[in-house]
Amino acid sequence: MKNHKIIVANWKMNPSIFQGIELLKSINQSINEIKVSSKIVICPPSLIIRDALIIFSNSIVSIGSQDCHHAEIGPYTGDLSYKMFEDIGCEYAIIGHSERRANHFEDNKLIFEKLNSINRSKIIPILCVGESFVERKSGLASEAVIRQIDESGINKLEFDQKIIAYEPIWAIGSGKIPTRDEIMSIHSKIREKLDTEGNNKNIKVLYGGSVNTQNVSDIFSINGVDGALVGGASLKKADFIKIIESAEI
Ligand code: PGA
Repeated sequence: MKNHKIIVANWKMNPSIFQGIELLKSINQSINEIKVSSKIVICPPSLIIRDALIIFSNSIVSIGSQDCHHAEIGPYTGDLSYKMFEDIGCEYAIIGHSERRANHFEDNKLIFEKLNSINRSKIIPILCVGESFVERKSGLASEAVIRQIDESGINKLEFDQKIIAYEPIWAIGSGKIPTRDEIMSIHSKIREKLDTEGNNKNIKVLYGGSVNTQNVSDIFSINGVDGALVGGASLKKADFIKIIESAEI
């Protein structure tokens, strides 16, 4: 049976509001013209999530948030809760992206709080894990990744589906990616960890970090890669569509 991929677009704080809405419309039009059997998830900036939900209302594309607060409501200026994203119609939430960990000092304890809250909703979490360049060079990549999994508690929480995105920090936005063997090895360690602990039947492990039209077919052909988390390349309509098409081959 064909292993249908999951392709998640992480737009980060890009592009402008009006360009973002145009890009959503244009992606919707192109996706309607091609055969897609993968699960496609677009995570735009929160301010255009409503537009995205309307544009893709009759589409196979699902919408996700790039983060969420773990409280349902409360005195958290500037934050948006997991419940708000659920109520508006988001089906997925990226949690623990390395940019949130670095720029907003999110640690595994807070990431656990977020996953634990999402567990009370219908949202499917996309947990990001990945080693730093120093960890990779010191031979500590898999230890770093497994520690993030353990401390975030994703292995013990019960979800209908769990998505882990393996994103080496040094690969994000750099044009560099790990070797096939390195990706395969970390993916199998993540799966092994989840398989042996808790209720982990429906696990998908994605690769993220500098995925582009040139390397995507090779990445998708690696054993254990269930899809991709795509940043920069998902902001170019033609490239994103090519990436989606690569999963059909
Ligand atoms: P990139 O970003 O594809 O631009 O490297 C991936 C990510 O940060 O999720």
